[in-house]
Amino acid sequence: MLEAIRQTADYIRKEVGATPEIAIILGTGLGDLANQIEVTKEIDYKDIPNFPISTVEGHSGKLIFGNLGGKYVMAMKGRFHYYEGYDMKQVTFPVRVMKEIGVKTLFVSNAAGGMNKEFVVGDVMVITDHINLFPENPLRGKNYEELGPRFPAMTEAYSKRLVAIADGIASEEGIRLMHGVYVGTPGPTFETPAEYEYFRIIGGDAVGMSTVPEVIVANHTGMEVFGVSVITDLGGKDITQVPSHEEVQQAAVKAQPTVVKLVTTLVERL
Ligand code: HPA
Repeated sequence: MLEAIRQTADYIRKEVGATPEIAIILGTGLGDLANQIEVTKEIDYKDIPNFPISTVEGHSGKLIFGNLGGKYVMAMKGRFHYYEGYDMKQVTFPVRVMKEIGVKTLFVSNAAGGMNKEFVVGDVMVITDHINLFPENPLRGKNYEELGPRFPAMTEAYSKRLVAIADGIASEEGIRLMHGVYVGTPGPTFETPAEYEYFRIIGGDAVGMSTVPEVIVANHTGMEVFGVSVITDLGGKDITQVPSHEEVQQAAVKAQPTVVKLVTTLVERL
């Protein structure tokens, strides 16, 4: 694995030249953030050695490099989901490579179902913590001390410093910014009404099928993490209709301007 990480990082460094210190993983329907980047280089996943290839509709797969908010950043347009069949090492491989390239801060975004009764569709939620319900941890197996510790702490998986900066931006800009705990599930099924209720009772505010693996690995490597969920549907014991993938995408697209403003300003202030 170490060899594959180095090989991929070398390839990217040769293609790109400069080193981004910030990486952004763009979630469902949040591709517009990529349009804010003054792109200097794009690389298709299929051209990157050792990279898995993204398969889901609405997730095109490429790395984007360029300037955002006065900083040189990289973004993943399209991520690898566990439900697609990738194993946890594949899902999180890009984060390993980011670290090797020199990335210090990771921004993650996703679409999520809301369980918190104060949430409405289109809300933007800063992730303050998560609950990992994936059947496997990406760190399972041999630990390479070069990559991080055997038993990493997860007490501040999402940087309090970055949450505080985001709160400041939200109040200046009049953005309704919720806080909450993200429950990460393997998918691909949406939740049953009983499952939404269960996730709320155990302390979740929103649920989705991504993010947790990448955030675990980012913490393992010592990156500072900021996460944001767009609430695309509401789940609870009374729900009678689960969202379609299209509805999730449309709701995420509607919240895009808010997420773009928040993330761009945050990057500017780092
Ligand atoms: N559940 C799981 N994942 C999701 C949801 C949901 O309700 N909405 C968007 N992604």
